[in-house]
Amino acid sequence: MNENQRKESQLLTPENQDKKIEKDYSKYFEKVYEAPSLKDAKKRGKEAVQYHSDFTIPEEFKNMGKGRKFLIRTYGCQMNEHDTEVMAGIFMALGYEATLDVNEANVILLNTCAIRENAENKVFGELGHLKPLKLEKPDLLIGVCGCMSQEESVVNRILKKHQFVDMIFGTHNIHRLPNILHEAYLSKEMVIEVWSKEGDVIENLPKVRKGKIKAWVNIMYGCDKFCTYCIVPYTRGKERSRHPKEIIDEVRHLAAQGYQEITLLGQNVNAYGKDFKDMDYRLGDLMDEIRKIDIPRVRFTTSHPRDFDDHLIEVLAKGGNLVDHIHLPVQSGSSSVLKIMARKYNREQYLELVAKIKAAIPNLSLTTDIIVGYPNETEEQFEETLSLYREVGYDAAYTYIYSPREGTPAAKMKDNVPMSVKRDRLQRLNALVNEISAEKMKAYLGQTVEVLVEGESKKNPDVLAGYTTKSKLVNFIGPKSAIGTIVKVKITDTKTWSLNGEMVEETVEVR
Ligand code: 5AD
Ligand code: SF4
Repeated sequence: MNENQRKESQLLTPENQDKKIEKDYSKYFEKVYEAPSLKDAKKRGKEAVQYHSDFTIPEEFKNMGKGRKFLIRTYGCQMNEHDTEVMAGIFMALGYEATLDVNEANVILLNTCAIRENAENKVFGELGHLKPLKLEKPDLLIGVCGCMSQEESVVNRILKKHQFVDMIFGTHNIHRLPNILHEAYLSKEMVIEVWSKEGDVIENLPKVRKGKIKAWVNIMYGCDKFCTYCIVPYTRGKERSRHPKEIIDEVRHLAAQGYQEITLLGQNVNAYGKDFKDMDYRLGDLMDEIRKIDIPRVRFTTSHPRDFDDHLIEVLAKGGNLVDHIHLPVQSGSSSVLKIMARKYNREQYLELVAKIKAAIPNLSLTTDIIVGYPNETEEQFEETLSLYREVGYDAAYTYIYSPREGTPAAKMKDNVPMSVKRDRLQRLNALVNEISAEKMKAYLGQTVEVLVEGESKKNPDVLAGYTTKSKLVNFIGPKSAIGTIVKVKITDTKTWSLNGEMVEETVEVR
């Protein structure tokens, strides 16, 4: 701020000052920075997806990280977790070292999530915590990336209230991290680079995976469904699929490295391949090929019921390494709410799909996502959600109170449901979710299950913990050597959300 600007801002009331700053910065964006725009991000043109596989670290940046450490805090979904693995890979390629200690870090990135207001509040809270550290260590670089960066309201708020932030970049340009860091080291001003475009596919980015047992593999990016409540199609761009060869090579490579489980990732994996212009190749075809790869467990998330086709069901029914667990978000049990949500299916169609999948995959474990308190949701409509939950008999659910997201159609709807009613509905739904889970768990008593052992239990280091193919958490006493292998465990006790047991046999031959 120059002297004139400072004088001017002192004359403004706090309210005007906010407006003034917003206005000034929008001018600033036009000139200097690439600012986000949800309006632009909504556009879906006809242009073909651009594929890039020419990522290299420019010679001049190769020593950028020498003697420096980075820390990335990740919020939100698996896609974000995986983006963090890519950014960690880029940091390492630049010569940085990883640290978990904020006091040791020279660069701190917050990889953010925009799905609900409370996810955003956590990030603003964390920025508040980081401010004293930045004041103490002016050379520390603080960056905000991920989905929140794609929202202009967030960028404006950071510009207004968290001016110590050094960089903001979005979900489409994480491959530009070296350049953004370089600019942030040179610039005295906040470096903002957010692309509000439909999105490309960028291959060959380095990755540092978080574990050696389970790995994530992106199969597609973006979402074109535009459910009326959801910010994702705006923050993650259009649906675009990676080529099967790239995915299959990555999975083969992970298998060769000894990974036991992969999860194929996408915001809407069932739309995989819809964007291919030169071939008819969908998720079922991809799963049919991955099924033949020598890796014990293969999962995928997240599915949209609308695009879940018969061929995929046929392939999943072949079993083998394709696990018997499907996450199939329903969002509501009321056809009229589903219509307002623009989910493009109704209660009956969803139930038919579930029946078809259950007939093909007996003993299937089915989980879901549910939103309660949608604008104007009536008690009867909510009860339809409860009755659908019971009818399907889900194994588990992620349940949420609807959170308005600026820029989405639902955020403009008038809402007559008080927050106290929404909270009450969430509690009633959660009670049902717990009741059915506990019942399902009880059926495991005395059974022997196969567990992929992930490590020591969080509560007790003498106890090992892992998951069954149906994603049930199992705690049991066993040797540390079992970590990273699949073992047989006899279930001796059941809880609402986990099973306890005794190991009966070491490595299970699954290959
Ligand atoms: N409010 C509440 N929950 C939401 N979800 C997505 N958007 C919102 C929102 N605005 C939930 C959906 C989705 C899951 C990832 O998050 O249930 O499936
Ligand atoms: Fe959001 Fe999922 Fe709907 Fe896409 S399909 S808009 S990610 S809820």
